Amino acid sequence: MSVSSSLKIDSDLHDLQFFADGRMRHLLSLRSFSAQQLTDILDRADNFIDAAGNATGRSNKLAGVTVANLFFEASTRSRISFELAARRVGAEVVNLDLQTSSRNKGETVMDTVHTLQSMDVGIFVVRDSETGTQTTIARNVNAGVSVLNAGESIVSHPTQGLLDLLTIRRHKGTFDQLTVAIVGDVAHSRVARSAAEGLSTLGVRELRLVSPPSLVPQHEFVPSAKIMTDVDEGIAGADVVMALRIQKERFENEDGIPDETAYFREYGITSDRLKNAAPGAIVMHPGPLNRGVEISSTVADGPSSVITNQVANGVAIRMAILEAVVS
Ligand code: CP
Repeated sequence: MSVSSSLKIDSDLHDLQFFADGRMRHLLSLRSFSAQQLTDILDRADNFIDAAGNATGRSNKLAGVTVANLFFEASTRSRISFELAARRVGAEVVNLDLQTSSRNKGETVMDTVHTLQSMDVGIFVVRDSETGTQTTIARNVNAGVSVLNAGESIVSHPTQGLLDLLTIRRHKGTFDQLTVAIVGDVAHSRVARSAAEGLSTLGVRELRLVSPPSLVPQHEFVPSAKIMTDVDEGIAGADVVMALRIQKERFENEDGIPDETAYFREYGITSDRLKNAAPGAIVMHPGPLNRGVEISSTVADGPSSVITNQVANGVAIRMAILEAVVS
């Protein structure tokens, strides 16, 4: 893609996500966020987190608003935390999933959305395996209705990206001195893409995308990211190590899926490998975990792991986003 067409897409995306006065309308991607806009969301989320690191804050900002969770792909963390977040800021919540929805009978996503809009749903939280579903919905909902992307194909998972940024900021303070290594199935990871976009905007010193050669992303994430295929070099000196799940469901054919034992031996995040990271390095994982494949249990449950903090921060980030689109 040429630089000018990429800039045009980013500017269209920005105009769709934000009103002219800068307020957020939809959350589709972190690509068009400025550093200040990211920081504002992180600051708002921080206010919901107590001294013990739990998202115990509450508000009533969404009183009278109905949030619909439309998850057309499996989810534990995002779906439950969006529901908890919506309730904790005073909203009503309805949940729809593929198994119980009329999409099973052939109803289009837009017909589903229009049906729920007629029931006064004001915010749609959407996860889908197809690229562009959330943007199509955002372009076609009524004025005053918002769409929040809860996971889109392999391209975007902005609330995960935000909760990862918040987790890093809460543990490390600032971004400009950090080396961050994102390790694993980078090619299929919407988590890696959103995290990379946010980290790049916030000026991380070095961003490494570390994967086997077969899982190097086909399309550029952010120009500044360093593509690496040696995991030990990738982890060396890193302040943050973010492990990724192998996304078996996104491989075009099963032959491409790595053998789990060989993968763990060659790319798994283990205590031995972690010794080469920077002192005080933190280990992250978006979940769900494949223990003994991309990460050992010793690391996942060990002192460097901040995985449970990520989950807690996810509730706070989703509360902040819900508040932001009604502000
Ligand atoms: N990290 C994440 O998106 O987890 P879920 O698939 O459980 O929502």
